[in-house]
Amino acid sequence: MNSDELTPWSVLRDGVRLIARFVRGHPFAFAIAVTGAAVYAGAIIASSLVIGWVTNTVVIPVLDEGESYTGLLLPAGLLILGVAVVKSVGIITRRTGAGYLQLRTRQDLRNELLDHQLSLKMSWFDKQSIGDLLAVADADVDQGTGVLGPLPYASGVILLLFGSFAMIVAIDPWIGLGATIGLAIVIAIDIRGSWITYRMWEAVQEARGRVSSVAHESFDGALTVKSLGREGYVSQRFGVESDVLRDRLIEVNSTWTTYQTIIRALPQAISIALIVVGAVRIDAGVLDTGELVTVAYLLALLAFPVQLIGFVLWDLAGSQAGWHRIAAIFRARDFIDYGDLAASPDAGAASVSSAGVHFTYDGSANVFEGLDFDLEPGVTLAVVGPTASGKSTFCLLLARLWDPATGEIHLDGRALSRFAGSELPREVSYVAQDAFLFDDDVAGNITLGGAFSDEEIQEAATLAGADEFIAELPDGYQTMLGERGTTLSGGQRQRVALARALIRKPRLLILDDATSAVDPSVEAMILRSLKSAALPSTIVVVAYRPASIRLADEVVFVDQKRIVGHGTHTEMLTSTPGYARLVQAYEDDARRMQQEAS
Ligand SMILES: Nc1ncnc2c1ncn2[C@@H]1O[C@H](COP(=O)(O)OP(=O)(O)OP(=O)(O)O)[C@@H](O)[C@H]1O
Ligand SMILES: [Mg+2]
Repeated sequence: MNSDELTPWSVLRDGVRLIARFVRGHPFAFAIAVTGAAVYAGAIIASSLVIGWVTNTVVIPVLDEGESYTGLLLPAGLLILGVAVVKSVGIITRRTGAGYLQLRTRQDLRNELLDHQLSLKMSWFDKQSIGDLLAVADADVDQGTGVLGPLPYASGVILLLFGSFAMIVAIDPWIGLGATIGLAIVIAIDIRGSWITYRMWEAVQEARGRVSSVAHESFDGALTVKSLGREGYVSQRFGVESDVLRDRLIEVNSTWTTYQTIIRALPQAISIALIVVGAVRIDAGVLDTGELVTVAYLLALLAFPVQLIGFVLWDLAGSQAGWHRIAAIFRARDFIDYGDLAASPDAGAASVSSAGVHFTYDGSANVFEGLDFDLEPGVTLAVVGPTASGKSTFCLLLARLWDPATGEIHLDGRALSRFAGSELPREVSYVAQDAFLFDDDVAGNITLGGAFSDEEIQEAATLAGADEFIAELPDGYQTMLGERGTTLSGGQRQRVALARALIRKPRLLILDDATSAVDPSVEAMILRSLKSAALPSTIVVVAYRPASIRLADEVVFVDQKRIVGHGTHTEMLTSTPGYARLVQAYEDDARRMQQEAS
């Protein structure tokens, strides 16, 4: 929705829809909370009657006539106590129901957000700021559901509003009319204030998102910042955003406080004026003192639901501002299209083929313009090419982490897009250069919640060249790795990530420079053992080291937005000049590094 088209009424209408959406999720909790509030409201009305009765039958006779009404003290006390007990029950019931409604709605929203985000394509993630997404899941969800705090209370005490009104009108219609006009004025001011703060809350939530983005980026890049001594630069960037947030919060809160002062004072001023009218009416003989005491009490009671209605309207403004940022994520419909094909994970190594595949990340520049190749089952294929030629993109396409713009990639003749959700990863494992580890132990990072035995875990780790160093960790496979596996070296992290792929015995294993951080000799050893192991895999490996390239059965040379050559290393040296030059450059580099090391 374009926020320029918003009006106070559209905000109110959308707010009511938002409330309806939340209440539909947990109608029972809402009903309990409202019932609790209604019981409380009923008890308050009852207490006004009790007070009127006690004034007329006990207090006034005692004060005016000095009579002793001790006989009535006990029933009066019991009545007051009974009303107080009912009030307490109402409060407890309302708070329990409202708390459940609000907290469960938040939990539901966070789960829905995560599920929704995980079903979106990588192209969507590419455009997001992680810090901003975190702010939506945290601050915006809290803000978006803020209205659920006062809502059941306000709904429940509507009874109080109507009840008090009806009683005031019954006692004296003129005072009732005055109260109606007063109420209309207060609510009009509430709606206006809510509208003004709605825009301010929008600015606050946006500023919160930016603060979270910059904070996330600063923590993520802590190493770079510290190594270059640029703490001041990062603090300054963060300072600018947090100053904006502070100013926005001051703005909304000062506006809210100014309005609140008016909203709190106005009902009291109106009550005083109406009591003066009541005193005149006593003089005229149409009211008695007990009735005016009841009216005064009812007017005081009225101020309370009126204030709560104000809270709901104001919180609705804040909730809508938060909700609009949540809804923007729900509106993203870039879903991955799945078919209904089930995986056949135990069918041995898979063949892979691609025909007429064009690919672009953002629609502007093509990374591939015709990607055609055939790969026999069980082959180890090295992907070689200059920087930014599309080697990683090739790997991402094979694992269907992105979809081609045109053309299809097939696994054993089955188009990747025909697999049902979560089925393809049972046949294809992709390992990136940047190994992501979770804040879990080593075994947990390898299984990622899959049901694997200790033997399988160890077997996969051995194949990945990781078993030895894991055994030397303080608690072996049970050693906790910390967030992103920061306690391990880059090469160790890569090997844990490799073991995670191998344990799944993929039919197609894709390694995008996944062993770049381990020693060349260890890399060659790992690749050799992968080839010779009883691993049912076709292997595609992005390789830079001549020794690793030579280990592959076949090589593809990626350049000029396509596969320029495909064959064995020896064939390619003669058939593809670009390949020969690149491999020669790698060899020169390797020789120079060896000389420097010795
Ligand atoms: N997420 C992305 N969004 C937009 N463009 C991208 C994205 N990832 C890569 N590119 C572009 O696609 C092209 C191919 O990138 P890719 O990462 O596949 O190259 P590469 O051969 O793996 O390079 P390197 O050898 O440096 O790893 C590059 O021009 C790159 O700028
Ligand atoms: Mg790459």
